[in-house]
Amino acid sequence: MTSPRSAEPQRLTRADLEALPNYVPGRSPADLARELGLPEAIKLASNEVPYGPLPGVVGAVTDAVASAHRYPDMGVVALRAALAERYGVAPDRIATGCGSVALCEHLVRATCLPGDEVLYSWRSFEAYPIIAATSGATSVRVPNDAGHGHDLAAMAAAVTDRTRIVLVCNPNNPTGTSLRRAQLDRFLDAVGDDVLVVLDEAYREFVTDAEVPDGIEEYADRPNVVVLRTLSKAWGLAGLRIGFMVGQPAVAAAVRKVVTPFSTNLVAQAAALAALGQEDEVRRRCALVVAERDRVTEAMRKLVPDVPDSQANFVWLPLRDRAAAFGAACEARGVIVRPFPGDGVRVTIGTPAENDAFLAAAEAAL
Ligand SMILES: Cc1ncc(COP(=O)(O)O)c(C=O)c1O
Repeated sequence: MTSPRSAEPQRLTRADLEALPNYVPGRSPADLARELGLPEAIKLASNEVPYGPLPGVVGAVTDAVASAHRYPDMGVVALRAALAERYGVAPDRIATGCGSVALCEHLVRATCLPGDEVLYSWRSFEAYPIIAATSGATSVRVPNDAGHGHDLAAMAAAVTDRTRIVLVCNPNNPTGTSLRRAQLDRFLDAVGDDVLVVLDEAYREFVTDAEVPDGIEEYADRPNVVVLRTLSKAWGLAGLRIGFMVGQPAVAAAVRKVVTPFSTNLVAQAAALAALGQEDEVRRRCALVVAERDRVTEAMRKLVPDVPDSQANFVWLPLRDRAAAFGAACEARGVIVRPFPGDGVRVTIGTPAENDAFLAAAEAAL
């Protein structure tokens, strides 16, 4: 027998989710262009690389689609083998996911029971608090230091016996700051082996400072370190959703256990394999981005003196209470950036023409 319907609708989902911020996707440039009556708008809000898919990717995707009625290879064998060869690690140390953000979530699910602590610097990647909360874990946020980067000494001091996982974003999204070898060495030595340390290196390919270590080369052999990488940024596959992690075999196996079955889809696997064959082109594009990053940083420092050095494909403008208005002013000029109200604005590096349009909008706005 069904129970009588009450006048008030019943809550069917968790009450605590209401307090959670939504992950904010960048605004659609087509919508903004229509609204402003412009032929096109420029999107510098999601840290994508502006040069289109890598050569060979569209063909690989087209071929793969012919098998779209079949499930993909659940073991992701060919791609994991290619990643293993490229990064010099055994395939059983690699797990792939529907973007590295999904892997981050799987890692939290694989390590935390309700009430366990996820430790990270703040402000950092906006998905971290959402992942912690939806997993039932407790977020512990350590404020960024005065230079907008991670305060690793304070983070090490904030580890408790409830801490299961520490998320270290290097370079940090959205501030672009980076951690150097000596700092990370000290931090990793200070954190106990019973805490998983995740080095989220979504922007690794844009790093030019030789003192900023490659987590896979330098730390992935530690028993409690996992390195996250994505193919969304430098490798140009954001729309296909694919990332990977390198860790100890037991951690990779645990992640593969909690992953949604078949979530590294057929097309993404084929595209990633094709993209991995284009490393020279990736390097060429990253060099273009880096040159523009340095140009935009220098130009913006004339307007906002405390813009930190960036090792990523975006720059951070610490505009504090002017952030929201600056974002709106850029948008009114057809340039979509990413404001974090009360804190700052993140601006993705685009093509030279896109960056010129942004700099003109910024000058007008400030
Ligand atoms: C620090 C960081 N990690 C992970 C990701 C997720 O990348 P994806 O899920 O597209 O692989 C992003 C994307 O913006 C990011 O900034």
